[in-house]
Amino acid sequence: MPERFSEHAIKAWKEDGAVVIPNFFSSEEVKSAVADFKALYGQKVGGNPLVKTNQDEHRFAGEQFSNLFSIPANCSPSLNLLGVHPKLINFAQKALDTNDVRLEAAATWAKYAGDADFNQPWHCDFRNHTLTVPSEDSKLNTVNFLIYLTDVGEEDGATHYVLKRDSNTIPEAINWFIKDPHDKKLQSKLSEFERSAAGPAGSIFAYSIDVFHRGTNLTKEKGYRYAMTASYKIATNDLVGFTAWQYSGESHPWHIIFNNASPEQLHCFGVPLPGDPFWTKQTIKSAQLRYPNWDLSPYLSKSNQQS
Ligand SMILES: [Fe+2]
Repeated sequence: MPERFSEHAIKAWKEDGAVVIPNFFSSEEVKSAVADFKALYGQKVGGNPLVKTNQDEHRFAGEQFSNLFSIPANCSPSLNLLGVHPKLINFAQKALDTNDVRLEAAATWAKYAGDADFNQPWHCDFRNHTLTVPSEDSKLNTVNFLIYLTDVGEEDGATHYVLKRDSNTIPEAINWFIKDPHDKKLQSKLSEFERSAAGPAGSIFAYSIDVFHRGTNLTKEKGYRYAMTASYKIATNDLVGFTAWQYSGESHPWHIIFNNASPEQLHCFGVPLPGDPFWTKQTIKSAQLRYPNWDLSPYLSKSNQQS
């Protein structure tokens, strides 16, 4: 499988907490994922852009997130497994300096012009990924990926961000937590360093939970943006978390993931690898009953080798 990112990109993430990689996903992968989006969300396109000039511009409108849904989704494996693409896992492993990573969140996210004013204030995402604050050791935070599946220019709700090297020059920003989101002084100081993660379909924006960023509005008539999120952490890191996958074991179509993912991809959801002591003849037999079309042969063959 050809490389999709450079060592320079890993270095950039480690140093600055954020990096944009254009065309990470191939046009075929994007095409399949877009077909899944259409199956899930229908043929809807955006309407007239909504610009709430009189509203408090520093709020997160609930409607911004009305089309965000955690996986598994009731569509093909393409979209369901995009967040655990081997090269995405590989990026997270290199960024976090470990082979043992866990996916802590993954969701499909459609935005339509007119559904909301998608502008956000500068913020960091740690507030719903940890109960405390980001670690000064970037390995103990998360690698968050925002995956664009449609072309995203400045009119299509491109995420904007500030590199850590820049926000670190702002004393008030070093505490990450903006106590007062109406603090226009701090907001405008961050804006001096504003960069855009705009890119063609298939691009990814990798950022850490201590990186200032903000969503921007969709201002194109009939505009819409398809994106997917995927966040990784070191497996043993209890400081951060987002999704307890097990909680949706009965309500979501997990068989789509189990029937199509590799052991390495399933491991990102916390499923033990082949050879792990968890896998006995009995657990393999029971798991097969739960997921009749899951190919458990790699687990069985390792289990046979050990017994
Ligand atoms: Fe955010």
